[in-house]
Amino acid sequence: MPASKTNPPKTESKSGPASSFLSVTDERTATNYRIPILDGAIHATDLHQIRTGADDYGLLSYDPSFANTASCRSAITFIDGDRGILRYRGYPIEELAASKTYLEVAYLLIHGNLPSKNQLAEWLHNITFHTMLHENVQKFMDGFHHDAHPMGMMVSTLAALSTFYPDAKNISDEHTRYQQAYRLIAKVPTVAAFAHRHSVGMPYIHPSNDLSYAENFLAMMYRPSWTTQYTPDPVLAKALDTLFVLHADHEQNCSSNAMRAVGSSHADPYSCAAAAAAALYGPLHGGANEQVVRMLQEIGTKEHVPQLIRQVKEGKRLLMGFGHRIYKNYDPRARLVQQLAEEVFAVTGRNPLIDVALALEKVALSDEYFIQRRLYPNIDFYSGIIYQAMGFPMDMFPVLFAIPRMSGWLAQWIEMVQDPEQKIARPRQIYIGPHERHLDVSGAKAPVRKPSRTIDTRPKPAA
Ligand code: CMC
Repeated sequence: MPASKTNPPKTESKSGPASSFLSVTDERTATNYRIPILDGAIHATDLHQIRTGADDYGLLSYDPSFANTASCRSAITFIDGDRGILRYRGYPIEELAASKTYLEVAYLLIHGNLPSKNQLAEWLHNITFHTMLHENVQKFMDGFHHDAHPMGMMVSTLAALSTFYPDAKNISDEHTRYQQAYRLIAKVPTVAAFAHRHSVGMPYIHPSNDLSYAENFLAMMYRPSWTTQYTPDPVLAKALDTLFVLHADHEQNCSSNAMRAVGSSHADPYSCAAAAAAALYGPLHGGANEQVVRMLQEIGTKEHVPQLIRQVKEGKRLLMGFGHRIYKNYDPRARLVQQLAEEVFAVTGRNPLIDVALALEKVALSDEYFIQRRLYPNIDFYSGIIYQAMGFPMDMFPVLFAIPRMSGWLAQWIEMVQDPEQKIARPRQIYIGPHERHLDVSGAKAPVRKPSRTIDTRPKPAA
C-alpha cells in the first residue's frame, strides 16, 4: 500500500474561517484532505480538489432532489424537523399565529423585524394602494377557457404581470425591488379571486381598500355583485388570516427553490413568482390540499379507512397530506390548522370529512408502516377541510396556498438577490449516456468533432 500523502490543509472556505475540519482519505490515491466545516456544512466546491490526476475533473457531490444540500445561507425561516419547530425570523409560529396579522408577518419576513406602528401604517398603505389590476390584465384573464383551473390562471397571470411592469427588471435597485413586493402581495388575492369569478362566470369584484387583507379577499370571492351588500364573517376572515400566517414561508421548499433558481438568472420577480407558483401547483407540494379532500371524499366514511391504509401500504397510492421532507415529527402547522377547524365549524357547521381525517390520522399514527417512515400529518392534511367548510371550491385550494406564500417567495428572492455568495443556479450532472459515437451513413464522411467539454465521470473502458 502506498504511503499516504497529505494535502496542505485549507483553513478558509468561501464563507469565512473554519474552526473544525473533516479529514478524508481518498483511497484511490492514498491522499488525505482536510476540508473546512462551517455551520455544520462542508462547501461542495472544496471536494473539487479531490482528484485522481490532471485529467480528472474532481469529486462531485451527488444529491438528486437536494436531500442533504444547503443551497443558501438564510435568516428568514428556521425549521427543526425532528422536534417539529417552525420559526419566522426567530419567532415561533404558534406565537405569530396567535397574535399577529398576516400582513404584519409578511412585513416581518421581508424586512426581518416586526413593524413599528408607523412602519405598519406605511406598509398597509403601500399594500392597499396596489390591489387593483390593470384593465388589460382583466381582459387577459377573460381569455381563459371557462373551465380553466384557477391555479393555471394564477401561474399565467403572474407571468403576464411582468409585461405590465417593465421597471421590475431593475432588480439591483432596492426601491424597485420593494415596489414589486408591494404590488405582488397586494395583487395576488385579486388575481386569485378573479380566477375564481371567471371560472364560475360571475362579474369581477374590485378590491375594497377599507377592508382587511383577508376580508377584502373574501369580498372579491363571494360578493354577488357591486349592487349587493356583502359583509365577510369576522370569525372566518380571522381564521383565513391565521391560515395565511401559517402558509407564509417554509424555507427552501420546492416553490421557494424555484423562485430562487429563476431569480438567480436575474429574471424579474413576476417571472420568478410565476415559476414558484407553478412549482406549488404540483400535488406533492401545494396541490396536496386539494388531493387530500378528494381522497377523504373517496373514503367517505370512517369504516373505509382501513381499506385506504392497505392500498397505501401496498404502494398503490400515497396518503396525501402525510409525510414531509423535513418534518419527521408532527408538522406544527397541522396542529394549529386542526385547532382552527373547530373555530371555523362553529360558524359554518361541521365538515363531516374532519371525522374521516381524524380517524385516518389515528390509524396511520399507530401503524408500523407510518411509524417506521416517520410519516405525520402535514399542513395540507387539515387545511382543505377548512377551506371546503368556508365554501371555497376545491380547485381554489392551491391558490389559497399561493396567496400568502407570495410574501415568503419575495423574502427569499430579496435575500438571494443581495447575497454575494449567490450566482446563477447551475447544478452539475453525472453523465450516464453513450460515449462519443458517430452516425453510420454509408458513403458519407463522418463529421469532424471537436473534443467534448462535457465531463464524463464514468470509468474509462479498459485499453
Ligand atoms: N404516503 C405513503 N408513503 C409515503 C408518503 C405518503 N404520503 N410519503 C412518504 N412515503 C414513504 C415513501 O414511499 C418512502 O417509502 P420507502 O422508504 O419504502 O421507499 C418513505 O416514506 C420516504 O419518503 P420519500 O418519498 O423519500 O420522502 P420525500 O421527502 O421525498 O417526500 C413528500 C416528501 C411530502 C413529497 C412525500 O411525503 C409525499 O409525497 N407526501 C404526500 C403529498 C403531500 O402531502 N405533500 C404536501 C407536503 S407539505 C406542504 C408543502 O410544503 O407543500
